[in-house]
Amino acid sequence: ETKPRIPVIWMHGLECTCCSESFIRSAHPLMKDIVLSMISLDYDDTIMAAAGHQAEAILEETRAKYKGQYVLAVEGNPPLNEGGMFCIHAGKPFVEKLKMMAEDAMAVIAWGSCAAWGCVQAARPNPTQATPIDKVITNKPIIKVPGCPPIAEVMTGVVTFITTFGKPPELDRQGRPKMFYSQRIHDKCYRRAHFDAGQFVEEWDDEAARKGYCLYKMGCKGPTTYNACSSVRWNGGVSFPIQSGHGCIGCSEDGFWDKGSFYDRL
Ligand code: SF4
Ligand code: SF4
Ligand code: F3S
Repeated sequence: ETKPRIPVIWMHGLECTCCSESFIRSAHPLMKDIVLSMISLDYDDTIMAAAGHQAEAILEETRAKYKGQYVLAVEGNPPLNEGGMFCIHAGKPFVEKLKMMAEDAMAVIAWGSCAAWGCVQAARPNPTQATPIDKVITNKPIIKVPGCPPIAEVMTGVVTFITTFGKPPELDRQGRPKMFYSQRIHDKCYRRAHFDAGQFVEEWDDEAARKGYCLYKMGCKGPTTYNACSSVRWNGGVSFPIQSGHGCIGCSEDGFWDKGSFYDRL
């Protein structure tokens, strides 16, 4: 209670804003507790009251006042084609603003598959040259929190770890927090017993689908997807895609749009 709240700058590049939509629905901890008691969200394009020059001034102020102490959270990625003109912030290419704010940050978080891997805007043929943030911020570790979007409680869990311990959580070799990304969806899937027993859905809405059999033959990517959906689940632990009857499309994996072939069956 006596510790000053960590300043957070939340920037948006090319993205759809559903990472923010996910974040604000966190049930444990509640987003209001994060924003009002745990961090000082000093800048966020989508939910801050300030605008224009007033908003831009916050960035300079944060760099000067909290050098090496603030967290830079990035949703989306910078497009590098044509000098970065596909994403302009306050008259400048987003990539410039991103590099400038990363320079003095204590930690950088890459929210979602856009910031971590590139996501849909980087899918072939990637006309804007959308680029994951670790390709342009190369002088400090990036905490990658992939998913399209990531699970709300995974996002707030990462923030809680940093505010509690004052350092990033332990990361795997791809830069993802081990506590949430060390297992595949398949490892904890409640339909796994059906996979092991060779009981598969063969057609949408067949008898096997009604019985809740395994979705592997319908293209489920759970066996190759690292994420916490089958353990943490979504909507405060209520459900996740497979529980709703749809296979995992591997939304937290690098290049899932190009590799995906979501509905390819075996
Ligand atoms: Fe949207 Fe997915 Fe990108 Fe998040 S990772 S901003 S949900 S497209
Ligand atoms: Fe694995 Fe997918 Fe089958 Fe679940 S539904 S057991 S994740 S293949
Ligand atoms: Fe994404 Fe698969 Fe989870 S599609 S939301 S990683 S179950």
